Amino acid sequence: MSDRHDTIRAIEWRDDRLYLLDQRLLPHRLEYLACGTAPAVAEAIRKMVVRGAPAIGIAAAYGVVLAARDAHAVDPAGWRSAMELDLRLLESARPTAVNLKWALERMRAVMQQIEKDPEARLLQEARRIHEEDVRANRRMGELGAELIGERCAVLTHCNAGSLATGGFGTALGVIRAAFSAGRIERVYADETRPWLQGARLTAWELVQDGIPVTLLVEGAAAWLMARGLVEWVIVGADRIAANGDVANKIGTYSAAVNARRHGVKFMVVAPLSTIDPETPDGHSIPIEERPQEEILELAGQPLTAAGATAWNPSFDVTPAELIDAIVTERGVILNPDRKKIGALFQREGDCCNDQE
Ligand code: MRU
Repeated sequence: MSDRHDTIRAIEWRDDRLYLLDQRLLPHRLEYLACGTAPAVAEAIRKMVVRGAPAIGIAAAYGVVLAARDAHAVDPAGWRSAMELDLRLLESARPTAVNLKWALERMRAVMQQIEKDPEARLLQEARRIHEEDVRANRRMGELGAELIGERCAVLTHCNAGSLATGGFGTALGVIRAAFSAGRIERVYADETRPWLQGARLTAWELVQDGIPVTLLVEGAAAWLMARGLVEWVIVGADRIAANGDVANKIGTYSAAVNARRHGVKFMVVAPLSTIDPETPDGHSIPIEERPQEEILELAGQPLTAAGATAWNPSFDVTPAELIDAIVTERGVILNPDRKKIGALFQREGDCCNDQE
């Protein structure tokens, strides 16, 4: 695939610190925020400087490197316990994306094996997590693109692109690969109220990479489908439960209900680090509720009558029965259920076949 359709990277480790592309400022300003401590990384995750499930996990992994550096400087013998508070800060930064917990568990496992100064070894592991995510995205891109038959238009929700991952993207990775292969002619992007990830991030990302994008309010998505304008809905995930239920950005569930009503196929693209075998089903997924101001205000200006309140769940759960395909780096699961998700974890290495 030509690099022309893959130019954006939101997370960089350089000069001994973490640089995050500040997604609160896009598309107007392209600025990187430097984080030199673990609490700064936790704050960046909480305030959505960096967002998207895999990107949160990667940022937190680099946050562990910073925590270990500071802890070792203060207490060379007891650095593990000295960094516990920082680890908890990182862990609790956002609740729904399981990649955060997954990345921290992986870093904790490495911490147990280190005898001397931990920084170099932990940095190596964080870099591995980062690089593996990009490789997984490229593999999912190939697998997902194969599912798209005739050249068509697709709808996506939120931002599941390079900005939300180590690079290339999950849903947008499939879109990048399928566009390069001539299978996608246009991407429709839900604006994604209230934080506007679709309008501010997905549209920007696709324009940067030369992929035609048309924005719509998510209330228009059912009508887009009724008009026969899209063949697939392609989204990412924040957590996939053991039975195949998928938590993703609020509005994903309505997109799935509408897709089924109109015979449009529904694809979820997510690495194994987003699947949580310990969460039995969608009811058990913690759903983040964000501040009411995200709905009641726009750019600091009130949008509604003083005294009105808002309900702001940041995610919803799409039941497995509404999903046609879950694409992972280890293979595609058609019509997901508990048995097929379980079998995916038994398999070795990469595979691209459905398990039916
Ligand atoms: O609140 P956000 O912007 O972090 O939510 C992000 C999403 O819901 C994405 O669709 C999901 O994390 C998949 S990203 C590859």
